Formats: sequence, structure tokens, C-alpha cells
Amino acid sequence: MSRVLLVSSAVIASFLSFVLHVALNSPISPLPLPLPTSYLAPNNLLQKVEKLGEGRLVGPEDVVASRDGMLYTATRDGWIRRMHPNGSWEGWVMIGGDAVLGMTEAKDGTLIVCDVDKGLLKVGDEGVTILASVADDGSPIRFADDAIEASDGTVYFSDASNKFGLHDWFLDVLEARPHGRLLKYDPSTRKTSVIISGLGFANGVALSADQDYLVVCETWRFRCLKYWLKGELEGKSEVFIDGLPGGPDNINLAPDGSFWIALLELRSGGLNLIHGSALAKRAMAAFPELLKFVRPVKRRAMAVNVAADGTIRRALDDSDGSVMSFVTSALEFEGHLYLGSLGTDFIGKIPL
Ligand SMILES: *[C@@H]1O[C@H](CO)[C@@H](O)[C@H](O)[C@H]1NC(C)=O
Repeated sequence: MSRVLLVSSAVIASFLSFVLHVALNSPISPLPLPLPTSYLAPNNLLQKVEKLGEGRLVGPEDVVASRDGMLYTATRDGWIRRMHPNGSWEGWVMIGGDAVLGMTEAKDGTLIVCDVDKGLLKVGDEGVTILASVADDGSPIRFADDAIEASDGTVYFSDASNKFGLHDWFLDVLEARPHGRLLKYDPSTRKTSVIISGLGFANGVALSADQDYLVVCETWRFRCLKYWLKGELEGKSEVFIDGLPGGPDNINLAPDGSFWIALLELRSGGLNLIHGSALAKRAMAAFPELLKFVRPVKRRAMAVNVAADGTIRRALDDSDGSVMSFVTSALEFEGHLYLGSLGTDFIGKIPL
């Protein structure tokens, strides 16, 4: 056997064993992901934000403006922190862990909070109560992500993925199989029912101004659904907006009845090819070190204002993430937009 033949058989053999390793060791069993073609023309308006609490807020994912004029956020060091109207910050309640995401103010002035690891929580001055960690069909709530309380006290919330946890959320995107759900917590029975299953990473949840429908966002489907709560379509869902130029994260109702949606950049030249190939995604998930190099989500920030008819009216971005990156929430309050992020150590604030 010639030396060339010997070397090439060795190369082929190692390649095959590599492929076998990938196939056997990958934590995902992916499907190719169709990507939208829409893009935002960069305006870098988010590079002009004022930085609230800079240096003290590690990854403030969501922002709540309460009726008493406080700004609340959960940070990766286990705290729910708040800013007084005079601008001073304090650690309010220690939750522990690093996994509190979406929060909303309840009618009684407490916060309803999604903790990926613990479930749906109620947090007040008197402490923390777990409202739900299992749905009434017995399925665990594995990734509580965002919540909203209706005026009758019902809490609607998302369970992003029943397969992957917070630190592996990008594997859910790569796998591109729907593991997300929309859940409903009834305070009178304390039961949690599943309203919609099969969502593509169920993320932000918001109620319309009249509370006749809610909107739930599906991150890797680049769309948000409308779920009717009243009227002849009650219990039915339809597409609210699709083909978004980024993966929708949290959504908040604006005072004029429109919605602000934070978008994650899930595409890039190299990543687009990977999204289209199940084998490439399987390989990438088997070697998590590779993910570091392609996560474009860390290098861009985007937020869009979407009218109640599902059309984009306004967009703000930081196209290279030089000031704000990985924006996960956008909240309009008293003429300003407040931006939460898993990639910054501050909350961005910008006049509208
Ligand atoms: C801001 O208000 C809080 C609550 O009333 C108070 O504890 C704090 O001392 C105030 N800070 C400043 C700098 O005025």
C-alpha cells in the first residue's frame, strides 16, 4: 500500500470517527430552520442610551415600572433590584440562583416573576411564594420566561422550553423543534393549565389594551401569535406578526396600545448556513466551544414598536453592540424607552 493511500485512509477514518462522535454525542436532534429575509437598516439610536445603575446590574433581563414610580429588574446575582424615584438603587429581594427573567406588577402591588429554575413566583416585601412549578397535567414547568396578569387576576406565562435550561437556550434555537408552551395560572384554584403547546421557544407575553387578546412571542420562529381571550374567536390563535428581523424576546404593551418587542439577532453570514443544516447544527451542539464564535446575539441590539395591526412602526438598534447588546426587553414609560439586556451591566434609557 502506498504511503499516500495509507495517509488518506487514516484521514478518512478519523473523519468518519469524528462524524460518529458528533452523531452520538450531540445533545440535539435538529431540524433545518427557515430564516426570514427581513433586515433592519441600522440607525444605532440605542448607542445614545443613558445607563441606569451602571456596574451594579448584572444582566438585567426585564424591566418593570411600578405604579409607585420604582423601576424593578432581576439581575444574574440572584437579586431583584429597584431604583427609587430619586435614582438610587437597592437590592430589594434576594431570590438566589441566576435565572429570574420576565416580571410583571400584580394588582396587589407585588411582583409576579418567572424563575427558569423555580417556576412562577410571587414576590413582595414579605418574601417569595412559589405560585406554580408544575402544570395540572403533571408536566413540570421547566423554563418560566415571561408573565402578565389580567385584570381578573389570571396570570398568563410562557414556558420557553421543556428540554433545555437557561444556559442552553441557544440549543433550543439550534434544535428548532417546538418545546415551548403558553400557560395560564388561575389564582382561585391555584392550578396551571396549558393553553398552547408546540411553540418555538415561547418568550414574551403581553395583553392588549382592552385585554381581548394576548400576544405570545416565539423566538426562533421570528414571530408572535395573538391568542383571543374574548369574543367569537375566544380560545383561538393566529399570527400577530411574522418574518421579524430578529428573534422576539420580551414584549410590552405601550401606552398607545402598540407593543414594544426586543429582538435577538439569531442570524449572521456563517450562522445562516448552519441554521440550514441539521448535521452542522448537530456538530456545533456537540462542541459547545464553537458556539462562542458564532453567537451574533451578543453583538447586536434591536427593539421594534409594532402597532396593534401587526405592522412595524419604529425600530431602534445598536448594530455592532458597542453600547447596548443582547437587548431582551423594551418598556415604554413616561415618554422613555427602558431597555433590559442579558449582555450589559445597566438598564438603557432613551427618550422617545
Ligand atoms: C432615595 O430615596 C430612598 C427611599 O426614600 C432613600 O432611602 C434614599 O436615601 C434616597 N437617596 C438619596 C440619594 O436621596
